[in-house]
Amino acid sequence: MMTHAKTPAIVRTIAELRQRIKAYRRAASAEATVGFVPTMGYLHGGHASLLRRSVHENGLTVLSIFVNPLQFGPNEDLARYPRDEERDVTLAASNGVDIVFLPSVEEMYPVYPLLTTVSVSSVSEHLCGASRPGHFDGVATVVAKLFNIVQPDRAYFGLKDAQQVAVIAQMAADLSIPVEIVPCPIVREQDGLALSSRNVYLSAGEREQSLALSRSLAKAERWVAAGATAQELAKKLAEDIRQAPSADIDYVEIVTYPGMQPIIGSGALREYADSVLIALAVRFGRTRLIDNLIVKPKEAGDLLCSAK
Ligand code: PAF
Repeated sequence: MMTHAKTPAIVRTIAELRQRIKAYRRAASAEATVGFVPTMGYLHGGHASLLRRSVHENGLTVLSIFVNPLQFGPNEDLARYPRDEERDVTLAASNGVDIVFLPSVEEMYPVYPLLTTVSVSSVSEHLCGASRPGHFDGVATVVAKLFNIVQPDRAYFGLKDAQQVAVIAQMAADLSIPVEIVPCPIVREQDGLALSSRNVYLSAGEREQSLALSRSLAKAERWVAAGATAQELAKKLAEDIRQAPSADIDYVEIVTYPGMQPIIGSGALREYADSVLIALAVRFGRTRLIDNLIVKPKEAGDLLCSAK
C-alpha cells in the first residue's frame, strides 16, 4: 500500500481541532470518515502501521500525541518518558496523516486532576491493572476525552497493549460512544522484540535478554497443543523467561479475552473454545516490557496476533 507524504496541520488547541474536523465533515461527502490514532508520541513502526491503516480506511486521519500524566503512577517514568516532536511530525507526514494534535497538559486538563474519572471495572482489574493501580482509569479518562474532542468514526490501537484495547472497547460500548475500535496486530523487530517507545531505555545487554518474552510466547502454542492447563502454561512460561538472568517477572497471566478474567480449573487449555490472552510483563533493569499472544486454542493455528 502506497501512502503519500503530505504536510500535516499541527494543531495545539481543542477549539482549532474541532473547527478543522467540522470543516472537513462539512466539505466531504456523507460517507467520508475520520480515523483517529491516539498516542503518547516517540512513534515507531507499530504506530506507523496504525497510521497507514487509518489513512487507507478513512478520508481524514488525526494523530494525537499527548503524554498523559493521569496514566502514570507516582514512581513511574512520566518525567523521563521519551519525546521527539520533530521526528514524530516527520513520521506522521511520511505516513499521510492530515492533522497532528499536540495539546499541552493545561489544554487537556485545565483542572488537574480532572474531577471526572472514567473507570472500567472488571476488565481493568488484573494484569497491568493490578500492577499499575489507576493506570487504566487514566487511559480510559483521556481516551474518552479525546473521543469527545475528535468524534472519530474509527480509532486504531495496537494489540501489544491488549488489555488497553479491551478496556477502551468496553468503555466505548458501555458509554455508547459511536466509534469503531480497530485492534491492530503487534509489530515486531526482526528478532521478535515487540516495538515499544520504551525499548529505547534498554541497554545492549537488556535488549538481548528481552528476547526472552517473544521466545517464550513462541513456545506457548506448542505447550498448549501438548495439553498444558492454564496454570502449567504460566509456570512453563515463567521458567523459560527466568533463563534470562536479568528478567524480573511482574506477571505471567493466562486470561479470557476480551473479558480479562483468570482461567482457573484443571482442564487442558487446548479444549478452550474462546479467545485466550497469554500476557507477560517483565522488568529488565528499570524498563518494564509487556508482550502477549491471543489464541483460540481449539481452532488450531487461529492466531489473532502471533509472536515470532
Ligand atoms: O497507548 C498509548 O499510547 C496510550 O495509553 C493512549 C491510548 C494514547 C492513551 O494515553
